Amino acid sequence: MATININYDKLGAGYLFPEIARRAKAFAEKHPGVELHRLGIGDTTQPLAPSVVRALQDAAERLSKGDTYTGYGDYEGEKFLREAIRDAYRERKVEIELDEIFVSDGAKSDSGNIQTIFGPENIIAVQDPAYPVYVDTNVMAGRTESFNTVTGQYAGIVYMPCHEHNDFFPELPSEKVDLIYLCSPNNPTGAVATKQQLTQFVEYARQLKAVIIFDAAYSAFISDARLPRSIYEIPGADECAIEVNSFSKSAGFTGVRLGWSVVPKSLITEDAPASKLNALWYRRQSTFFNGASNIVQYGGAAALSPKGRRECQAIVDYYMQNARIIRDGLTSLGLACFGGDNAPYIWAKTPNGVRSWDFFDKLLREAHVVTTPGSGFGPAGEGFIRFSAFGRRESTERAMASIRAHLKT
Ligand code: MLT
Repeated sequence: MATININYDKLGAGYLFPEIARRAKAFAEKHPGVELHRLGIGDTTQPLAPSVVRALQDAAERLSKGDTYTGYGDYEGEKFLREAIRDAYRERKVEIELDEIFVSDGAKSDSGNIQTIFGPENIIAVQDPAYPVYVDTNVMAGRTESFNTVTGQYAGIVYMPCHEHNDFFPELPSEKVDLIYLCSPNNPTGAVATKQQLTQFVEYARQLKAVIIFDAAYSAFISDARLPRSIYEIPGADECAIEVNSFSKSAGFTGVRLGWSVVPKSLITEDAPASKLNALWYRRQSTFFNGASNIVQYGGAAALSPKGRRECQAIVDYYMQNARIIRDGLTSLGLACFGGDNAPYIWAKTPNGVRSWDFFDKLLREAHVVTTPGSGFGPAGEGFIRFSAFGRRESTERAMASIRAHLKT
C-alpha cells in the first residue's frame, strides 16, 4: 500500500503566488474589460540583453550540427560559467574555487533542496516575513509540527521577527538553532543587511556550528557600495554559510531558468568536517539533477561578460526607476514605505492597520492593482503589502495613477 508524505498535509494554505493569481483571475472574469495592473509576483518583464540573446542563439546553432553538438554537461555546471561566476566574486575580493560552485536551474530550487543534506532534527530559523520556500520545504521534510492558525506559525520553527523597530533585520535567536535562512536584499521587505548585521550572524553560526543559508538572489539591485552583495564578504562566512544566487532577476531569466549555489569546502558543522557538505551537495545534485540547460549556461556567461553586465545593469536600473515611482506614489498618499532603495520590492504599511489580505482585495477591487499581501510571507508580515518593481514602466505608472484616482481612504 502506497502512503503519502503526511507532512504535506501540515502546509497551511496553497503556495502564495498561485492563490494571488487565482484571486486576480476571479476578479478579471467577473469584470471583463477591466485592465489589471500587476505589481504582485516579482516576475521580470523586460527583454533579455542583446548579448544574452546572441549567446543563446549561437548555442542553439551549435546544437544543430554534428561536430559541435553536445549532450550532458558537468553536473555542477559548465566550467566556463563557473569561471565567470568565480570572477564576479573575485571583484568583491571573495575567493571561491570552481568546485565550490554548483550551477542549477534557479535559486528557488536550490533554496528548497539544500535542506535535504541536513538531518531531520535540525532546528531551522527564518526571518519573519520570509520567502515562503524556506518554511514550506522544511515542513515537507518533516522538521515541523502542525501549523497554528492562531499564531500563523509552525511549531518547531524559530521565527525571527523583522519589523520597523529593527530595520527589518532580525536579532540573533535567543535559543540554539542549526540552520538559519537569511535573504538580503530581502524578499519581501526590501531591507538590505549591513556588514555589521551579517557579522553578528556569522559569529553566532561559527560559535554554534550552525549553517546560514544566504539567499542573495537580489544582490544585483544593491547600488550602495557599502552594502555587502555576498555573505562571503564577511570574514569567516566560508566556514558557516551556503550562498544561493540567480540570474532570474539580474538578467531576466525567470522563464529561462539559471542560478547557482556556493557550498564552500571550508564549511563545517558538528558532524561534518571540511569538504563533507560540499560533497553531499554534489551527491544530491548528481542524483536528482542532470545539470542546467547547456544553451542557457551560455546565456548566463554572456550576462556576466563586461558587455552583458552593462546591458543587464541598464535593465536593473529600469526596474529601480519603477521602484522609485512606486515608492514616491505610495508615500505621497501617506503610506509608510520601506525597501525600494537597493531592492526591487517596496514594503508598505497598510493604512489604519487594515489586514494584508483585506488591503490586497481593496487594491484589486478599487484600483485594479495586483500586489502581494505581507501576511503571505509570515505572521510578522501582517499589516503590510508588497509591491514589485518588475512591471513594465507604463503599467507601473498606470497602476500608481489608478491607486491615486480610485483608492478610497
Ligand atoms: C516573488 O515574487 O517573491 C518571487 O518572484 C518569487 C520567486 O522568485 O520565486
